[in-house]
Amino acid sequence: MSAELVCFNPECPERFPVDAVLYNCPQCGGLLEARYDFAPLKPAELTATWDSRRLSREPLDVSGVWRYRDLIPFVTDEAHIVTLQEGNTPLLDAPQAASYAGLDRIQFKHQGYNPSGSFKDNGMTAGVAQARALGMKRVACVSTGNTSASMAAYAAVGDLQAVIFLPHGKIAYGKLAQALEYGALTIQVEANFDQILALVRRLAEDLGIYLLNSINPFRIEGQKTIVIEMLDQRNWQVPDWIVLPGGNLGNVSALGKGLRELKQIGVIDRLPKIAVVQAEGSAPFHHLFESGPDGTIKNVDNPETLATAIRIGAPVSWEKARYEIQTSGGVVESVSEQEIADAKAVIGRSGIGCEPASAASLAGAKKLRAKGVIPADADVVGILTGHLLKDPDYVYQYHTGELKTPAGDKLESTFGNQPVVMPNDPAKIAEFLTSCE
Ligand code: F0G
Repeated sequence: MSAELVCFNPECPERFPVDAVLYNCPQCGGLLEARYDFAPLKPAELTATWDSRRLSREPLDVSGVWRYRDLIPFVTDEAHIVTLQEGNTPLLDAPQAASYAGLDRIQFKHQGYNPSGSFKDNGMTAGVAQARALGMKRVACVSTGNTSASMAAYAAVGDLQAVIFLPHGKIAYGKLAQALEYGALTIQVEANFDQILALVRRLAEDLGIYLLNSINPFRIEGQKTIVIEMLDQRNWQVPDWIVLPGGNLGNVSALGKGLRELKQIGVIDRLPKIAVVQAEGSAPFHHLFESGPDGTIKNVDNPETLATAIRIGAPVSWEKARYEIQTSGGVVESVSEQEIADAKAVIGRSGIGCEPASAASLAGAKKLRAKGVIPADADVVGILTGHLLKDPDYVYQYHTGELKTPAGDKLESTFGNQPVVMPNDPAKIAEFLTSCE
């Protein structure tokens, strides 16, 4: 099937071959996206093919990304693909979380079950396939932690050198540990994510390193499969709402594109509404929607949030994200540090758990329910983007009442669960256990 890169700016007609090493349109600076001719695809045949691949042991069929390769057909030689059996993440009912949000029901698509523990793996397997197809030897990214962990893992499997740029001191330890363990060249820069992205884009071009941030259109292609797999798990029943956290806004762009394409092909007959939730201190996209979405985004110069994964003030994919929100009839919201922390603990109490940024989805669903935007009986899917163990410091501080906002204000540990220290004395421990019954 023919694939090409197309400028996302509706006023710009530029098109490029799929092997062009480009992240922005050279004519207008717009973002690029991959497009294909899906006309020959028949929805019933497609879903039957995907079902049949679940019975196969072939690595590409086992992958929860490449199982849907008919919708990401930019790879001509499958030998370039490296897979860690990414995707295949569960869709979980969470009744406690639903009642916390005032909803009858919520399901979580938990991307933290991926090989490197976040949704980035869905995109990274696709981005690394393209890097290998282009004959690249080095790949780079700036990251708030998860992209780098994922890129490091896939580069290791794909025999590429991974060069990682991180905001010094501002990423969760679990993620830094992964980058080191997977053998990435790790550079901690004394600047924030947005400043480092500008730096890395220049360096990547000068040094011929392939950039694997979400500005890379092939990452977006892989991430589309999150929503394809989720709908497959629901037997193609479209939810009313999908709620997800937003940082650099690549994920909402990917999910929106995937949904539109499924509708275009006829696999689904309507689009769910998409709600993007940002942290209050890092919410330029929410500010844009508050001030009338048709303007230009105003970057937040010093973004702050304890949910370091979404500590981003200049989201690269905001124009794509705006298009997807508007096309779906969706909304943008922001939530406080306290709301994120408490929602996260409730997701934990549901036996599920997630990292702080992911909990913005439940916090946002609760807020949108309270505002009457999402009705109580709506069919809601929240995307949990990363694993609970990505940021254990945050978890421990919350439960022990030590968590403070970036400004230094103490957060309530509303659902705190303090560990208890006891002497090595069976009688005392028995007495304590009896008192807790
Ligand atoms: N949740 C988690 C756990 C993330 O790691 C990120 C982004 C997001 C949500 C936001 O997704 O940027 O597509 O809107 N993390 C990136 C990184 C920026 O470098 O790992 P987005």
